[in-house]
Amino acid sequence: MKQFKEITPYQLEANPFALFNKDWGLVTAGDKESFNTMTVSWGGVGILWNKPVAFTFIRPQRYTIKFTEAREYSSICFFEEDFRAALRLCGSKSGREVDKVKETGLTPAFTDEGVPYFEEAKLVLICKKLYAQDFNEQSALDDLVRKNYSGDDYHRMYISEIVRILRAE
Ligand SMILES: Cc1cc2nc3c(=O)[nH]c(=O)nc-3n(C[C@H](O)[C@H](O)[C@H](O)COP(=O)(O)O)c2cc1C
Repeated sequence: MKQFKEITPYQLEANPFALFNKDWGLVTAGDKESFNTMTVSWGGVGILWNKPVAFTFIRPQRYTIKFTEAREYSSICFFEEDFRAALRLCGSKSGREVDKVKETGLTPAFTDEGVPYFEEAKLVLICKKLYAQDFNEQSALDDLVRKNYSGDDYHRMYISEIVRILRAE
């Protein structure tokens, strides 16, 4: 079993822009009996309400949203380049149709609180939801925003406290 070391937000050396937009991440939520994971590349980390937080944006048609809505916790996992194919699959197939664990060969693991993540990750953010809100057309201030929503499928924004950061040893 892979060893992870818990680090503080200040010990995180990885560039968060690269983590999301180049490496891509997997947002995973659920429990041992039932969970789902999907690829994300829009998101970020920062400070809000005096807490380290992660921002994720999930469209309403994603199967994963059923799990992020139902659970207080979720994880965001980042991987080495070898896992690109797995991330492509998790970002193009829905958990409604395929068993992503079976298809990718990724190994689920669970924190003491039962939050699912993957053993192969190089970095894991364990996140606790603090705030969720759906984007909407009225709040969009630029066509750059609107043109992303031709299907009227405005993202749901989650702001989550990062309660733990695990880095592969
Ligand atoms: C590189 C990449 C990044 C993505 N980022 C997001 C994202 O930030 N938010 C989102 O809602 N969907 C994003 N997607 C799309 C979902 O990962 C994709 O629709 C996935 O199949 C949903 O799976 P699910 O239905 O099992 O939840 C991304 C896909 C890829 C390939």
